[in-house]
Amino acid sequence: MGVLKAIKERRSCREFVTEPISDDLIDKILEAATLAPSAANNQPWEFIVITNDEIKQRIHFESLLCKKKIFAMSGWRWVDKYKADFLLEAPVLIAVIGDPKRIGAHQFLKGTETVYQQACAAAIQNMLLAAHELGLGSLWFTLFDRYTMKKILDIDEAKEPLALICLGKAATDPLRTPRKDVKEITKYMR
Ligand SMILES: Cc1cc2nc3c(=O)[nH]c(=O)nc-3n(C[C@H](O)[C@H](O)[C@H](O)COP(=O)(O)O)c2cc1C
Repeated sequence: MGVLKAIKERRSCREFVTEPISDDLIDKILEAATLAPSAANNQPWEFIVITNDEIKQRIHFESLLCKKKIFAMSGWRWVDKYKADFLLEAPVLIAVIGDPKRIGAHQFLKGTETVYQQACAAAIQNMLLAAHELGLGSLWFTLFDRYTMKKILDIDEAKEPLALICLGKAATDPLRTPRKDVKEITKYMR
């Protein structure tokens, strides 16, 4: 599959078939992550592959607490309706952990310390596109409290759990979400 085709076709999947996926597919997706660019090739990422049901249940419980908190603060109805069952259904969750110390020259420039997050985001997008090419659905999930996630996944205090990537065969066709018109959001300085 060409890259542009994968980019056009990929959509967030929130309904998964529970059937496991092979280690070979997981390895290919992780390799795609590690091939992402990073500032000065700092590769500020680490991954935790989660298939353990008890850990998934703790993550799911944490997401429900976050949802409650956000709904109480916002009153947004979509939050109340939002079901995070995909955290239990997806056969694999991959936690993407960023290392805020791996920022090289950026430590000397104020305001660019988050450059490690940019690299991790590139790694995540590679994972989503690789998953799509391999016939899997995926979701980039971030609605969790990072301190709680550190505890659940036993993550070093100095590192940051940035996202959980849900992976598995899609149970339904994901929605085709709309996009802004590129002309309206692009300025040319010729
Ligand atoms: C940084 C980031 C965080 C996201 N967090 C969540 C999340 O916590 N829960 C969720 O259901 N989707 C999450 N998404 C997926 C977006 O909702 C989705 O990408 C967006 O609606 C566009 O839809 P598409 O991915 O199907 O094109 C996240 C996406 C990004 C890039």
